[in-house]
Amino acid sequence: MFGNWRCWTVYRRMKAESHEEALEKMKIEIVPTGDALGAEIRGVDLKRGLTEEQTTAMKSAWQEHLVLLIRGQQISDRELVEFSCHFGVLELAPANEFTFRGNVDMPETPPEISVISNVKVEGQPIGALGSLEADWHTDMSFMDEPPLGSILYALELPTEGGDTGFSNMYAAYESLPQDVRLRIDGLVAIHDNSLTSAGTLRKGFEQVTDVTKAPGARHPLVRTHPESGRNALFLGRRTNSYVPGLSVEESEELLDFLWAHAVQPRFTWHHKWAIGDLVMWDNRCAMHRRDPFDDTERRIMHRTQIRGDRPYYSAAA
Ligand code: OGA
Ligand code: MN
Repeated sequence: MFGNWRCWTVYRRMKAESHEEALEKMKIEIVPTGDALGAEIRGVDLKRGLTEEQTTAMKSAWQEHLVLLIRGQQISDRELVEFSCHFGVLELAPANEFTFRGNVDMPETPPEISVISNVKVEGQPIGALGSLEADWHTDMSFMDEPPLGSILYALELPTEGGDTGFSNMYAAYESLPQDVRLRIDGLVAIHDNSLTSAGTLRKGFEQVTDVTKAPGARHPLVRTHPESGRNALFLGRRTNSYVPGLSVEESEELLDFLWAHAVQPRFTWHHKWAIGDLVMWDNRCAMHRRDPFDDTERRIMHRTQIRGDRPYYSAAA
């Protein structure tokens, strides 16, 4: 009967001011970065949750800008999970895998949360990626159905370094020379599962010596976004990538070309973090990377990942 305290709070606020005033306050502001992708969303307080209007506006801004930034939040893990649920079904962080969850038992951290951190407790990392550079990648693209997006929230930051960059894969695809577009039409690539985004070997995997046998999902090089209907380059990660059907030399040459093209500064935007920043990216049409930082400092980020579908390519898009 006393069920939803949050609705009750909103009701009181709506009574205290006019309906129009209250609605106006819930409007979000979308401020594009001015670079090839990314926009800041202003006017949301994730502690209060999102209204339906705000959710709709954010979804369309996300589709248009690929990466969204919300500054100055102060939310708990549970609130991060609640916020993330507006954008789909959450993928659980693989529980026992060092590379996602850390070796440290964290019963208080919800199972949807992946910890991205260099911090160690009694010599054991509490999260993934350490302090090394994380090269350009798409999260968990070694899965047959990779997450459609990830949401990263900054809790502790080093004084410098650890910036995160994003690259617009629609723009990369659309600006490819026509002959390259025709060549990659219908090709797939292996998305290696043996290495983390920071280049370290995952637990339970062996070093890949022959890329034609790399473990991991095969996905089309050009991916049709299921919501926008637009085509984007879908590269995953460079290490141990291979295009079946080509010789290793041909595959390396093609992939080197596509990678050099895809991460040109004209397609990117880089974010310098402040504590309380939340950044969400669409894994289907954007890649990301992270700068290294001083390992004697602490960086703790909490991440959720939203379940996605199997990548496909539709020539008609
Ligand atoms: C990730 C990731 C980059 C960062 O969480 O998937 O790549 O800046 N993080 O921590
Ligand atoms: Mn990542």
